[in-house]
Amino acid sequence: MANDNKTWSERFSEPVSELVKVYTASIDFDKRLAFVDIQGSLAHAKMLSECGVLSQQDFTDIQNGMNEILDLIKNNQLEWSSDLEDVHMNIEKCLTAKVGDAGARLHTGRSRNDQVATDIRLWLRNECDTIIKLIKEFQLALLNLASNHTETVMPGFTHLQVAQPVSFAHHLMAYVEMFGRDAERFADCKKRINRSPLGAAALAGTTYPISRERTAELLGFYEVCRNSLDAVSDRDFAIEFTSAASLLMVHFSRLSEELVLWSSQRFAFIRLADRYCTGSSIMPQKKNPDVPELVRGKSGRVVGHLMGLITLMKSQPLAYNKDNQEDKEPLFDTVDTVIDTLRIYTDMVSGIEAIAENMRDAALQGYATATDLADYLVKKGIPFRDSHGIVAGAVRYAERHQCNLEDLPLNTLQEFSPLIEEDIYAVLTLEGSLKARNHTGGTAPEQVKKQIEFWQQRLQ
Ligand code: ARG
Repeated sequence: MANDNKTWSERFSEPVSELVKVYTASIDFDKRLAFVDIQGSLAHAKMLSECGVLSQQDFTDIQNGMNEILDLIKNNQLEWSSDLEDVHMNIEKCLTAKVGDAGARLHTGRSRNDQVATDIRLWLRNECDTIIKLIKEFQLALLNLASNHTETVMPGFTHLQVAQPVSFAHHLMAYVEMFGRDAERFADCKKRINRSPLGAAALAGTTYPISRERTAELLGFYEVCRNSLDAVSDRDFAIEFTSAASLLMVHFSRLSEELVLWSSQRFAFIRLADRYCTGSSIMPQKKNPDVPELVRGKSGRVVGHLMGLITLMKSQPLAYNKDNQEDKEPLFDTVDTVIDTLRIYTDMVSGIEAIAENMRDAALQGYATATDLADYLVKKGIPFRDSHGIVAGAVRYAERHQCNLEDLPLNTLQEFSPLIEEDIYAVLTLEGSLKARNHTGGTAPEQVKKQIEFWQQRLQ
């Protein structure tokens, strides 16, 4: 008995096993592509009718049927069936049930191979736009916070040891740059997503007089994929997208790590809004930074999807292979994770409260202005390597006496170098140190304000 649920049933002498049916079905997750699937089908049908492959009447019937199906989906009334394997066959079957022969003619000159590749590209290019927009909103939230803190001094770190003073705004603006590059990467990868595989059919093209340029135009693709084998088989665009998403999540993971540290009692540089923290079921005093921690964790999940997709592609012979059905869940989850993370972070950042006194105290603790003293001596003619040694000696002396460099009296400092004069005290202040780094990219308030203005204009 042939299994009449299956499009290819006549070829088979027995129905597909239940286990195989469940194992191969993708409808549970690919129904998410329903709207773009219909969009692609309508463009295909319109092109076929324009090329004389379908009658105008067939196209009208298909349009009407698809409109009904769209309503069903929107109202959650379409019954998806795993007997019909995937979203493409579910929709086609439903269409044929509604409009008869016209529905059965829709698949002329097309295969699910070019159909699914088209669907994913349509879907993903829209998600790229959403993500780019959300990145900009997040950058604006960072900018907003930064604009209040160009004079708020904190320790800048290398090796997580106090290095040199920077402003809190300068630190935040580093992230604005990082996320700016992320947005660029999504925009760039969209150029390669936004190409039309439709008309490549199963792998070699089709015998009907189709116009691939026309469907590409109808669907708003920038151009057509030039080779039919490549069009149905490569998912490099999905890998590229997930790689951009992984970098974005790695940036979030770094920021999350800093928020976790900064909100801890040891640093106490910031307070996170209560709505972003949770308590402990056993320790009443706890306020845990769950959201940044979870984001840090979720970055692993997205990097995992990148590994999954790139391994999925590896060693696949041309052209389409069923392996590619496995591209969807990692891709969907990557998009969901990135979008949720961007939304939650934008709100969380706007609720960050800087504790300026603590940042300042921390900057005073680690001899953060030692380089300024070295630079001071260099300006008086001492070679940098020698002044580095002189200042190291002064730092060791101050450490032994448990004080800061600026606490040492002038005659003590002069024992390290007679060139040191009264004006050294202005150099050793945190504010003096910041202000002295007054060039493009430096931490001087004047420069950081310029960077903030640059981004405010760019993000408009
Ligand atoms: N559900 C399939 C996928 O996601 C559609 C393409 C199926 N093509 C095939 N020749 N079996 O890749």
